[in-house]
Amino acid sequence: MKRLNRDGRYPVRFTLNGMPEEGFAEPRMLLTDFLRQEIGATGTHVACEHGVCGACTIRVGGKAVRACLMLAVQADGAGIETIEGLTEPDGSLGPLQQAFHENFALQCGFCTPGFLMTLSEYLEKNPDPTVEEIKVALSGNLCRCTGYHEIINASLDAAKAQRERRRQQD
Ligand code: FES
Ligand code: FES
Repeated sequence: MKRLNRDGRYPVRFTLNGMPEEGFAEPRMLLTDFLRQEIGATGTHVACEHGVCGACTIRVGGKAVRACLMLAVQADGAGIETIEGLTEPDGSLGPLQQAFHENFALQCGFCTPGFLMTLSEYLEKNPDPTVEEIKVALSGNLCRCTGYHEIINASLDAAKAQRERRRQQD
């Protein structure tokens, strides 16, 4: 049984992009709010807050999930990945981010972390997707200002870049 601290909050510990993090959360606190307010990981965005738009998508235990549909206390002990973890070790853009940048696949960028986190999981399962497959994979992420054409082109380029990287590593 976890111990409450004095103001009724529970300790929450997890790894975030490979680094240990911890804080305290009321039982009702959403994981999105915990990440942004307690941990300061503000790359994860919050829009609809009821699981529709995909802006808050992160990976928990490798699976892409909506952080606005999870309580912070449910993440205790998990391995979490967020958009901050997609950059290269030297801080430059990772292949998915670079592909979105080069294809003008964002305007305001509010939806972008969610698209990228969905894509990061999907491309591990299907490294060489068709356009139709990408459309299905990204159908749970909504963008209000960029054309989806650019997003799909960026996704195809990202997949290609990742395949190339893997080939060089083998
Ligand atoms: S903010 Fe989580 S799905 Fe929209
Ligand atoms: S780039 Fe603005 S909502 Fe997608």
